Amino acid sequence: MSKPQNRTPSGWDPLATWYDGWVGATGSEHHRRFAIPCLLRLMALQADEHVLDIGAGQGVLAPYVTATGARYTGVEISPRLLELARKRHRRHGRFIRGDARYLHRLPELRAASFDAVAFLFSIQDMNPLDAVLRSAAWALRDGGRLAILMTHPCFRVPRQSGWGHDPGRKLQFRRIDRYLNPLTAPMKTYGKGRKGVSITFHRPLSHYVNGLAACGLAVDALEEITTPEAGETRAEQRANAEIPLFIGLRARKIL
Ligand SMILES: C[S@@+](CC[C@H](N)C(=O)[O-])C[C@H]1O[C@@H](n2cnc3c(N)ncnc32)[C@H](O)[C@@H]1O
Repeated sequence: MSKPQNRTPSGWDPLATWYDGWVGATGSEHHRRFAIPCLLRLMALQADEHVLDIGAGQGVLAPYVTATGARYTGVEISPRLLELARKRHRRHGRFIRGDARYLHRLPELRAASFDAVAFLFSIQDMNPLDAVLRSAAWALRDGGRLAILMTHPCFRVPRQSGWGHDPGRKLQFRRIDRYLNPLTAPMKTYGKGRKGVSITFHRPLSHYVNGLAACGLAVDALEEITTPEAGETRAEQRANAEIPLFIGLRARKIL
């Protein structure tokens, strides 16, 4: 499980239609309720600023960015998601096919030309992290902001964490079986008889903070996101209010 599965096809292209159906025009419930609002708070966009959305998917962030008066460019590696992004959100900005690790190779992009860079539920699908962060830093102007919204690596380790119930203390607890060592995990399996999966990369929080610092990006804000109203029992609601399953993080490019 912790080794990349070289022989299994992976990536988001065969999942594009399913994903687009789940996200829709305005985002999944997670997108709408906390992920996009948190990312927008962290980016604190000014009118006419230019945002680069890395791993844009079907472009869900685009209309929210343009609603602030900022401009939007999305980069996405999956041709089918890119096509869906253009179909849904073309009027909100441009969408470019590209690999997050090699943004400097894209003729459409210029170094240090973006005021903000966003990773919305995308950075954990990208590897290696240092190449992705270096590439994002290349695109960002001095003083620009990089914002990441992702599942909380401390409390949500794919296939190595989950909820437990302690009947004696009448509480729900979070169990973490692995944390510090990076791991690669298959997530969503392709449907309709096709072989393959999307892959996610777990890394401890220190890899993000230190990886950003190595690229001249200093973390200056962090939000840990809970969903207190979720859950049917009081024990579930208490646990959901206490354990953040999502995290938003902002770093600034320093000279
Ligand atoms: C979970 S989806 C999130 C998409 C979108 N940001 C959203 O919130 O709906 C992760 C996205 O990252 C993209 N991705 C993964 N690796 C990439 C890479 N190296 N370069 C560009 N995009 C990549 C995938 O194709 C996929 O669209």
